[in-house]
Amino acid sequence: MSFKILGTGSCLPKRSVTNEELSQFLDTSDEWISQRVGIKARRICTTETTADLAVGAAKAAMEMSGVTADELDFILCATVTADNTTPSLACSVQSMIGATCPSMDINAACSGFIYLLETAAAFLSMKHERILIIGAERLTRVVDWTDRSTAVIFADGAGAMVLGKGDSYISSKLVAKGGDTVLSIPSFHGTSPFYEVEPKKPYVHMSGQEVFKFAVNAMCNDLADVIEAAGLTMDDIAWVIPHQANARIIDAAVRKFGIKPERCLKNIETTGNTSAASVAILADELFRSGKLKDGDYIAMAAFGAGLTSAACVIKWDGN
Ligand code: ACO
Repeated sequence: MSFKILGTGSCLPKRSVTNEELSQFLDTSDEWISQRVGIKARRICTTETTADLAVGAAKAAMEMSGVTADELDFILCATVTADNTTPSLACSVQSMIGATCPSMDINAACSGFIYLLETAAAFLSMKHERILIIGAERLTRVVDWTDRSTAVIFADGAGAMVLGKGDSYISSKLVAKGGDTVLSIPSFHGTSPFYEVEPKKPYVHMSGQEVFKFAVNAMCNDLADVIEAAGLTMDDIAWVIPHQANARIIDAAVRKFGIKPERCLKNIETTGNTSAASVAILADELFRSGKLKDGDYIAMAAFGAGLTSAACVIKWDGN
């Protein structure tokens, strides 16, 4: 059960919003956000939909891979902020890029892109040859813009990969610990005159310190397990791509796990937390940077609502 990465792509909204701009209508400051979260600016949709971002990332990945829409055998999207409850984001992308293959979404929150890699690896071990996977979010749609503890963190963006058959997926681990008390986005509650329960507001609810503790432990445990399962040590890993939730979470894991800081990729300062898109956007930045060498091992780790977490080791095959 494996794959080879044929191409990567990413797409961010045009509008960049700085901490100073948020400070104009929220009781916050550039100093607080920079120090506690590590974000200076984030990209926020003004006219773009989640599908627009997903298609932008998909087209870039398809162009890099040389795979055309009619050659795709499956489209899989990870998102918690699809434009519609139905049709799925994947079906919207399918029609916008002119593909005809089966298409569906999965929801594993910020761990979603690594859950997609696992799903695609399983599909590619069967009859499918080429799969487009996309992590895409418009989280600024589900944030309460009067809540300073969440509004400063979340952002919009998309990352994609075209995968084909190959041997690059070396090891993986997926975790779920069901429960909605620490981190959740309740659905729209509807207008039924018969429903008797007080609805929750359909915005991000987060116990920041609980998420922090879960995130650091999950990242360290999951990375340790997938690196050991790959028969490697941390010294063998050329690049670590962590979910961009909070720079302090990444820095804590770097210290606890002994990751060389220069090997641990970060773009949260300018991109914010884009949930299921975050590791895919960073992977695209790495793959386009020219820094990757054939045979490099890349470790990815993510964590999010569910609670879920996931990690994997990928061996770069540039041929
Ligand atoms: N600006 C200024 N002050 C703020 C802000 C803000 N944007 N947000 C919260 N505060 C205040 C609080 O009101 C509180 O004030 P008080 O002491 O007067 O009550 C004070 O700062 C400290 O609040 P805490 O919640 O204890 O702050 P903490 O240091 O824990 O930082 C944060 C909050 C950044 C959310 C932190 O807990 C964290 O990083 N948690 C991890 C959550 C995370 O990264 N989530 C990402 C999304 S989830 C995901 O991707 C899986």
